[in-house]
Amino acid sequence: MKKMWAGRTDGVTDKIADDFNSSIHFDCKMFRQDIRGSMAHAAMLGAQNIITKNEADTLIDGLDTILSDLENGSLQFDMECEDIHMFVEQELTKRLGAVGKKLHTARSRNDQVALDLRMYLRDEAEEIIDLVRDLIYAITEQAEKNKATVLPGYTHLQRAQPITFGHHLMAYAMMLLRDTARLTDAKKRMNISPLGSCALAGTTYNIDRRFEAKELGFDGVTANSIDGVSDRDFCLELLSALSILMMHLSRLSEEIILWSSWEFHFVELSNAYTTGSSIMPQKKNSDMAELVRGKTGRVYGDLMALLTTLKGLPLAYNKDMQEDKESIFDAVDTVKMCLKVFAPMVATMTVCSENMKKAAQTGFINATDLADYLVKKGMPFRSAYKVSGQIVAYCIDNNKVLETLTLEEYKGFDPSFEDDVFEAIDLINCVEKRTSEGGTAISSVEKQIEYVKGILSND
Ligand code: ARG
Repeated sequence: MKKMWAGRTDGVTDKIADDFNSSIHFDCKMFRQDIRGSMAHAAMLGAQNIITKNEADTLIDGLDTILSDLENGSLQFDMECEDIHMFVEQELTKRLGAVGKKLHTARSRNDQVALDLRMYLRDEAEEIIDLVRDLIYAITEQAEKNKATVLPGYTHLQRAQPITFGHHLMAYAMMLLRDTARLTDAKKRMNISPLGSCALAGTTYNIDRRFEAKELGFDGVTANSIDGVSDRDFCLELLSALSILMMHLSRLSEEIILWSSWEFHFVELSNAYTTGSSIMPQKKNSDMAELVRGKTGRVYGDLMALLTTLKGLPLAYNKDMQEDKESIFDAVDTVKMCLKVFAPMVATMTVCSENMKKAAQTGFINATDLADYLVKKGMPFRSAYKVSGQIVAYCIDNNKVLETLTLEEYKGFDPSFEDDVFEAIDLINCVEKRTSEGGTAISSVEKQIEYVKGILSND
């Protein structure tokens, strides 16, 4: 097919070159943004008398019918076109004749593609923020139900101190809240219009960039036209925020997978979010969580791919930049899918509180509390730490736990032990005493839940 840009050359390219060069099979996703951008551009050209008001109206009507024809399926994308921008202009000219050719006055595909992508991604960012919020909500609900469910907290994957499951889950709620803040921030910087940067240098026409920006819901216009067409930071910021978000989902996935194992058996996923094995009849696999963990690598890959594409690119537009879209679209679609499956998976997860409690009763996770007990009786912490360690070693040798030692045995290690030691090492007491801000005490977890719910209901 002869190209719309035929001029200097005859515009006839090799079929393989065409296939290699064209982006319509992925940038057709942005048809709505492309058409809305063109409508605002036509309106501006009319308002500035660069074209007549009549011509502007004709262009806008033509674009509007193309939009509805694409939406209702009566118009198909022409995959022979190089990209979505060329397709819309070609279709418009087909329908309107010569006036269609006026649309591209004072514009370039370079500012057009930057505009479309910003518009597309700001909506996607918003949708992702809403999905993260749904997940935070599901996590917070589970936390509320489990604010008094005791389990071992781990460091180095070794039982460390007693915590509540609600406390553990709320840690993820806090991480995800920061993810929404990062996405909101990326969206804010993205929402600046590059339209009017034209090819790179601006234009000799008397355009009104702010008119277009306002029409399209942007907060302002880019301050340098070369930057306007060269910048893809907004994609990188979004990809970075999405990568961090996926890292959080991956950590929670990993824990859910561990917790679902026979070895832990702390939670049981609903059948709706697990799969069986084709050979082992007993299996119930946490495939959804595993896939989320796996897809994290893919989103990191998208970030790395675009960082690498942009590294060393001279200003301004280079065709390399067409590679931005597949990375960012893939990341956005992947993250959305992960979030959509994650929220109901967490909401329907059964918590096996008895198993958590059993695990909390072994592993000496109240040894810190034993040391703190001695500190309160006047012993310096380092000495109390040592005595408690000796008691743990004694228990291991004698197949006992701290709760089953007699007072006499305790007194054998230090005379300051009294009957109240048993209260001090009682697991629920250990949890309840950690009332420091952000700690695991039920009252503290309640405050965390309240804080998160307050933010969810405010925005
Ligand atoms: N399809 C191109 C892209 O996605 C649009 C911009 C093309 N500009 C150009 N000067 N060839 O980057």
